[in-house]
Amino acid sequence: MFRGYGAFIREFLRASYTTGAVLPSGPTLCKTLASYIGTEPEGRGPSEELRRARRVLEVGPGTGCVTREIAKRLGPDDTLDLVECNPTFVANLRRMLEKDPVMQTVAGRTRVFDCYLQELETDTQYDRIVSGLPLNNFPVELVSEILSLFESLSAPGGTVSWFEYVAIRRMKSAVSFGKDGKRLRGITAALEAILQPYEFRRQAVWANVPPAWVHHVRFDQTQPR
Ligand SMILES: C[S@@+](CC[C@H](N)C(=O)[O-])C[C@H]1O[C@@H](n2cnc3c(N)ncnc32)[C@H](O)[C@@H]1O
Repeated sequence: MFRGYGAFIREFLRASYTTGAVLPSGPTLCKTLASYIGTEPEGRGPSEELRRARRVLEVGPGTGCVTREIAKRLGPDDTLDLVECNPTFVANLRRMLEKDPVMQTVAGRTRVFDCYLQELETDTQYDRIVSGLPLNNFPVELVSEILSLFESLSAPGGTVSWFEYVAIRRMKSAVSFGKDGKRLRGITAALEAILQPYEFRRQAVWANVPPAWVHHVRFDQTQPR
């Protein structure tokens, strides 16, 4: 259960802006984030023989705790791309793909991109995107850019799942004045502009430190995949 905690805490101390959390996501949060990898937004899962291969993107995998849950749910022809900006985490993910028995099963169809999401060069559109990015740490312009990338990288009917800690942004915005208050209120507005029309499910994960909301969004509401 405590796999990767030491590396994560070290990277938080070294690169807190991008790492964004002191601890990696707990087991329930990891499973909730990965919950649509093998199923439909409506909760029905077609049998493995019937469903088309899915392209999955994980953004900000860190020490790989969500990645392992994604790997367990991938269908036999599904592919996985990982985009991670921290070279220490990238090296760790590459090691996991070689050594971890769960990750070994998907290693042949997994690509690791050692860059920021904003620099990702790909023609692929993804059926499932799972993000661990700490959006509340970023400037409003970057949050808007990332949300636009989630949309442009989504295949028709694809889903995007991400989390944020319960109440933290709203509590901080209530007590922050000046630049940071303005930034946090800007993030709330940017998120609401996506969540109001496109969020199809929001799950509370209380069994996490701190508790988290998981947002599941589908930009194209017409074609569930
Ligand atoms: C809060 S941690 C989440 C790690 C892991 N997914 C989890 O849930 O425990 C955020 C991760 O996103 C990465 N990251 C931050 N900004 C990024 C960006 N713009 N592009 C790619 N990765 C980024 C960090 O290096 C870190 O691994």
